[in-house]
Amino acid sequence: MTAAPSAARLRLAVIGRSGQLAQALAEAAAGDATLDLAGLGRPDLDLTQPATIRPALQAASPTLVINTAAHTAVDRAESEPDAAFALNRDGAAALARACADLHLPLIHISTDYVFGGPSPGRACREDDPVAPRGVYARSKCEGEQAVLAAHPGAVILRTAWLHAPFGGNFVRTMLRLMGERDELRVVADQHGSPTYAPDLAAALIVMARRLGAAPQDPALHGVFHLAGSGHGSWYEVAQATVADAVALGRRAVPVHPITTADYPTPAPRPAWSVLDTAKIARHYGLGLPLWRDGVRRCVGRLLAP
Ligand SMILES: NC(=O)c1ccc[n+]([C@@H]2O[C@H](COP(=O)([O-])OP(=O)(O)OC[C@H]3O[C@@H](n4cnc5c(N)ncnc54)[C@H](OP(=O)(O)O)[C@@H]3O)[C@@H](O)[C@H]2O)c1
Repeated sequence: MTAAPSAARLRLAVIGRSGQLAQALAEAAAGDATLDLAGLGRPDLDLTQPATIRPALQAASPTLVINTAAHTAVDRAESEPDAAFALNRDGAAALARACADLHLPLIHISTDYVFGGPSPGRACREDDPVAPRGVYARSKCEGEQAVLAAHPGAVILRTAWLHAPFGGNFVRTMLRLMGERDELRVVADQHGSPTYAPDLAAALIVMARRLGAAPQDPALHGVFHLAGSGHGSWYEVAQATVADAVALGRRAVPVHPITTADYPTPAPRPAWSVLDTAKIARHYGLGLPLWRDGVRRCVGRLLAP
């Protein structure tokens, strides 16, 4: 005889299936017997086709929705702004509307790139003024506002500089380039909060449980930051990646610091988008390990025999 499912059982619908964070969530949930996770993605649920959203949610019948889907190609977004806004703003809003109609709590993932202005001389807090630069950043920033307008009870979770053993990310790129080049030249004047996606996924599940248990608690709503602890530049992340790979037997490759001006890109990047995570520590009791430790674990998994 099978036990009846507990009324408090968490049933997560994760929008996005093949993305870094979506995969990290699926992996975290696979080891957790107390929750069910449905990854909802194209073609069944396409955020740019609003008619597909509600039926997919109803079929999955979740207790809470996490939106990881986004147009994340920061440079490509400059040449396809319509696609970026269609997904990051309008698609996110359509999902939020459907969740509000179905009385489903929603955690919508956003980005540190909403901060593109001068450094405030400290980490950026949730109530600091946003200053997005570039299409990706503006589309995500307008997406936050559109989500909150459609679903005032939604939670916006800004994270940063994601890396994981899967998907396309900076750590994987550095490991590939170590095998192809005799030296690496990496931008040292952009500072952020590198985040290991599996750490974020584990924290998101805790968050989802808290929010699912107290969906009306106003302290759990609004905008939050969650990212790896400490801060670093891309140059420092590259140095860390190389050091960890060398410790695991890879050939050493020197890493040289360069400036943003030495490495022009179609989309501008913030010089300082380090996230202050004190608010989520206060309201949810959550914090992530040091980013340096996340890089070590990521490289360890990628280079495991
Ligand atoms: N990557 C970073 O460094 C970073 C930093 C800060 C914040 N973020 C935010 O974190 C979130 C997750 O990022 P990520 O790196 O995991 O992204 P990712 O690897 O690029 O994955 C994006 C996901 O979006 C889905 N998607 C694309 N178009 C879609 C559509 N029309 N309808 C439904 N789903 C669609 C893709 O699904 P399929 O291809 O499977 O259909 C994929 O699963 C995003 O909100 C991103 O803005 C990322």
